[in-house]
Amino acid sequence: VDLELQIRQLAEQGFGRTKIIRAVPDASEYLVRRIIDEVKGTRRERPFKTVPETGSSRVNNFDVVSALRPIEIKLGKPQSVSKNLDELYTVAVFGDVQAPFHHNANVNVACKIIADQRKIRLDETVDLGDAYDFYAVSRFDKNPLRRNLLQDELIIAGEVRARFTDAAGDSKKTFIPGNHEARLKKYINQNAPALAGMPQLQLDSLLGLSSAGWEVKDRYHVIKEGFVIKHGDLVGGQSGDSAKKEMNTAWMSGASGHVHRLGVHYRSPLISHIKGEQPYVWIETGCLCLPDQEYLDGKYPDWQPGFVFLRFTEDGFVFPELVPVHEGRAYYRGKLYEAT
Ligand SMILES: [Fe+2]
Ligand SMILES: [Fe+2]
Repeated sequence: VDLELQIRQLAEQGFGRTKIIRAVPDASEYLVRRIIDEVKGTRRERPFKTVPETGSSRVNNFDVVSALRPIEIKLGKPQSVSKNLDELYTVAVFGDVQAPFHHNANVNVACKIIADQRKIRLDETVDLGDAYDFYAVSRFDKNPLRRNLLQDELIIAGEVRARFTDAAGDSKKTFIPGNHEARLKKYINQNAPALAGMPQLQLDSLLGLSSAGWEVKDRYHVIKEGFVIKHGDLVGGQSGDSAKKEMNTAWMSGASGHVHRLGVHYRSPLISHIKGEQPYVWIETGCLCLPDQEYLDGKYPDWQPGFVFLRFTEDGFVFPELVPVHEGRAYYRGKLYEAT
């Protein structure tokens, strides 16, 4: 009450709000305003209950709420957004084709879309591995009823390679071996070490990759400073989980396959704010293989078929575009693609 009296006396002497607050520091701004209003006889009715007063509270719901007015939407010309008509540096990324256990219709639709993108702009095509299953040389038990010859596999896989090579056209083509390709070297080392190092048995020459225009990388491919593509080796439980692990291990942006899932993980650490960089991003690139690989033993895999386009601005900003593919169907640039 003393507080209120003090304020009222000051208000009656004509002191303003700021001066009263300074003279009576325990008073809340709300209380001072209310008393000034009362003294001036302009006190408005409260439309509803406000937050209870406390000695130090400066919350003034009444004034904030009473200042609200409905807004009027004025329709006019859209704000100008500049559109760069030159397409951005474009990279097609796919992986985990697992030929000869590839999904034929999904491979066909992916090839068609990559070829159509090439008509607009396609700078690079990256196959991030497990392109070949190497079933015949795997250390896992093999179906004895099947004819398990590596040569048979390579003939079919070579035909799939030809389709991707046609689709990629004259874009820069990069191949990153995965763990399935590593089966070849392991098999030779374990079963015929005397043949290790023979040029004809090296991955590149056996698969005819560089002669078809694919540059074979050892472990990873750096697209732009700060963005890497690798096969992937870190496994998470669900879509996006391994992207998170890969990013946190690589400590940069990138893309990987291996888990056969489509997913994206973003992160904006303090350093990206300080350096004015975009959020870090890691993409899981899906798969183009059959969903019933033998080693699954009849289990339903948590996989998502598809592939990815990455588009980079000059200064390295990346826009990922995931293209999910389901049973030979995909949606891309306003069109539904269907393949058999
Ligand atoms: Fe794979
Ligand atoms: Fe893999």
